[in-house]
Amino acid sequence: MTETIEEILARRPETDFTPMLSDEKVAEFRERGFIAIERITSEEEIAWLGDLYDRLFDERTQAVPGGYFDLLRPYDTPGDDLQPQIIAPEMRFKELRRTAFWRNGRTLASLLLGVDAAALRGWGHMIRKPPLVGDSLPWHQDEAYWDPGFEYVALGCWMPLDPATVESGCMSFIPRSHRGEVRVHRHLGDDPAVHALVADGVDTSTAEPVPVAAGGAVFHHCRILHSSGSNRSARVRRAYANEWQLEPKALAAAVSRPWIDEGKRAWEQRGR
Ligand code: NI
Repeated sequence: MTETIEEILARRPETDFTPMLSDEKVAEFRERGFIAIERITSEEEIAWLGDLYDRLFDERTQAVPGGYFDLLRPYDTPGDDLQPQIIAPEMRFKELRRTAFWRNGRTLASLLLGVDAAALRGWGHMIRKPPLVGDSLPWHQDEAYWDPGFEYVALGCWMPLDPATVESGCMSFIPRSHRGEVRVHRHLGDDPAVHALVADGVDTSTAEPVPVAAGGAVFHHCRILHSSGSNRSARVRRAYANEWQLEPKALAAAVSRPWIDEGKRAWEQRGR
């Protein structure tokens, strides 16, 4: 019989895995805007997270209202998922805040950002790339998705549950691009009902793909330009990311990000 989500949650393994982060890695993050580490949690926690992850996607679980959707095509369109996403699973499943992945992500984020770990707030998302379907996730900056009325100190901690290779769609980065402003973005296909954003005209001559093993992690600054390839391998590529940030500070004058307003309107029109 298939295990229920509750049954999987009830058998969460206790893990006290402590990852390594050298001073060189911290310096590299600040200089280049991203780093990879080989391992962020234990084998058994990775296996448990994988079981939970699969059930959540099987059931198209919404952890928060509207929190399951496909990144690559208009909201509410029928058919198989191309690149489905579950937003903030930890809001509903508190066990996800008790993992070594959560704990270690926060600790390393505080060292990389140079801030107090207790001041960091986290929220997660799970992005699933099924084999041989879907497209790449285009070049973007994560901050381009966020409310422009605030200033952010933030990074993403991205962990694949399957090997992330160039073939299976690992992340790629433009080193040092986190030092610039948030660029103009638009919705993929110029359709505000598609969640994914694109930054046009990115010079990809210095782009670096960053393959990582299952259970490794990539930390990336909220302004770094990044993308991930399509999954051309024969197996699923599951990724789970937590965003770590200080309480955002309100800006005196908001920056204009019209694509956010367009996206909000399309989101409110869903299902009508
Ligand atoms: Ni991103």
